[in-house]
Amino acid sequence: MTDVVLVVDYGAQYAQLIARRVREARVYSEIVRHDITAAEVAAKAPKGIILSGGPSSVYGEGAPRLDPGITALGIPILGICYGAQLLVHQLGGTVEATGRGGYGRAELEVPTSVDLLADFPERSVVWMSHGDTITGLFDGAVALASTDDAPIAVFGDPDAKIYGTQFHPEVAHSVHGQDLLERFLHHVCDLGGTWTHASIIETQVEAIKAQVGAAKVLCALSGGVDSAVAAALVHKAIGDQLTCVFVDTGLMRQGEGDQVDATFRKQFQVDLIHVKAQDRFFDALAGVTEPEAKRKIIGELFIRIFEEVARDLGAGSGDGGPKFLVQGTLYPDVIESGSGHAANIKSHHNVGGLPEDLDFDLVEPLRLLFKDEVRAVGEELGLPAEIVWRQPFPGPGLGVRIIGEVTRERAEILAAADAVVVDEIRRAGLYRHLWQSFAVLPAVRTVGVMGDGRTYAYPIIIRAVTSDDAMTADWARLPYDVIERISTRLINEVDGVNRVALDVTSKPPGTIEWE
Ligand code: XMP
Repeated sequence: MTDVVLVVDYGAQYAQLIARRVREARVYSEIVRHDITAAEVAAKAPKGIILSGGPSSVYGEGAPRLDPGITALGIPILGICYGAQLLVHQLGGTVEATGRGGYGRAELEVPTSVDLLADFPERSVVWMSHGDTITGLFDGAVALASTDDAPIAVFGDPDAKIYGTQFHPEVAHSVHGQDLLERFLHHVCDLGGTWTHASIIETQVEAIKAQVGAAKVLCALSGGVDSAVAAALVHKAIGDQLTCVFVDTGLMRQGEGDQVDATFRKQFQVDLIHVKAQDRFFDALAGVTEPEAKRKIIGELFIRIFEEVARDLGAGSGDGGPKFLVQGTLYPDVIESGSGHAANIKSHHNVGGLPEDLDFDLVEPLRLLFKDEVRAVGEELGLPAEIVWRQPFPGPGLGVRIIGEVTRERAEILAAADAVVVDEIRRAGLYRHLWQSFAVLPAVRTVGVMGDGRTYAYPIIIRAVTSDDAMTADWARLPYDVIERISTRLINEVDGVNRVALDVTSKPPGTIEWE
């Protein structure tokens, strides 16, 4: 069984970042709610527990607690910020609202680099964000480090293996933060660091085999990272029991269908059904301009086509047809946050969703993984960098970037324009730094002049944003020379385009997509 460290969630963003840092230390981490009981913890038999930071004060009304039974289990515990204050408060030390809480950069002083802070320099930069301050420790604990505002910035009780830090070791601004986490994981918890990308693959392959047995499995490929990595993992596990389906809606990025063919059919020799359904999508979308109506049409038609393929393969017939469907669900989508709601699920992100009346069981080989792990696993499995590092792409594809009516002609213009934008962004070395960068085709034409003639053609809007999670985004300050190259090429190379504009709207108030 994989060794696990539990991250107790007192503030979702903090907990996710800690969980990722633990994984970077090659230790498997799982996020759990703060109301987890000692019995539930014991049942998971973790090798260590980390209490996250959070916005509360231990004196706040209804402030989240830790089941006191958990500190008695003998499992090593590290409290971070609020987590550290909570440990001190519950174990009999003192936490004060001194009004001297520290925010931002601070200097950590380590008088003797021992124990959790072994090999720490005498002084190093750390990142604080706390309102309360630990001023007295519980029996057995000693102070290990301080900052100007926090006399007890790090403490430890080596016998009980209970530690706390007021600073945030998980953020990059804390220069030796990762060292502290690794010291806790590798020495205090005595974990070797066995959660590697190779071991993730091995574990998932075994789990998939055990789940599906000899049954057949279907997977819808979208061209995106998640479905590609999920399919490659499942294929590694069960080979030709897997059939992949790629539905070309006519609204994909340029070359996407060919790339899926080249990768899955040729390189991995996956049984791939490539449905060229462009005409059906353009017919269904004719005359439709309302954004949500377009989304709905694209989503429903996708599912209908997928169902047709599944039925042809014998799904739902009871004998020999596919029983399982692969979904590329990731860990952040399944974590229950402290508030009890599953985080980050967006109702409109449903293209490629489940055909309702076909009775599939789900195979979700990525549901334990963060996005960076999915990419690393994809690379390890030999998927091309172009797929592994692809920016997110909406389910309805170019359909939500062609403003107004979607026609074959307009889809072709936008696909060609998008390819130019992406090509220049890649050449400038910016592709992986941007959350998304693409072209938008509005529903107006404007007058221009080319050579001796007047033109009346479409503008293209360049949309490029930076973001961490798509919930908020900032428009990217692309260098002028990159914008210039994109503009020149769009007008020279893409028929039907005579003008280029740049979208300088952040989210909010804008959304990333135009529809
Ligand atoms: P917005 O435009 O809401 O987009 O700022 C946020 C993120 O979601 C993607 N997006 C979609 N993804 N189906 C999807 O699968 C959709 O209908 C859809 N609409 C937006 C968008 O690309 C961005 O990453």
